Amino acid sequence: MSEQYKKLLEMADKAAENAYAPYSDFKVGACALFEDGSIYTGCNVENSSYGLSLCAERNAVSTAIAQGQKSSLVAVAISCKNTKLCYPCGACRQWITEFNKSADVIVEGNNGEPVIFKAYELLPNAFKL
Ligand code: THU
Repeated sequence: MSEQYKKLLEMADKAAENAYAPYSDFKVGACALFEDGSIYTGCNVENSSYGLSLCAERNAVSTAIAQGQKSSLVAVAISCKNTKLCYPCGACRQWITEFNKSADVIVEGNNGEPVIFKAYELLPNAFKL
């Protein structure tokens, strides 16, 4: 695990502090690194109409795109205040894959050591138009 990836996880952990999760109390933070070195964070944002809730990963990636990011997605780190091994949900796997199916997905392992998967390992045969 590179120092850079450790930093991404730390930033994801910090982003989780901003989570708006009054319904689930499940606070998630994500940190997305792009090829040009830019980094974007996001947290989950829930809604009283539960199904409208936004995941941390999609928040981070959409922030990057909204800010004009055009380079390839290199990695997304995910941190959760409630549990280790916080894997991205199916929708977020599809979102990450959209911007690079070989992106690294980094989650905190049970023993404190981060675990890294490629997006294509978490979402084989992803939908593509
Ligand atoms: N959540 C995320 O932020 N990322 C995921 O990949 C899965 C779930 C959020 C959504 C909701 O606010 C809370 O976790 C409980 O499902």
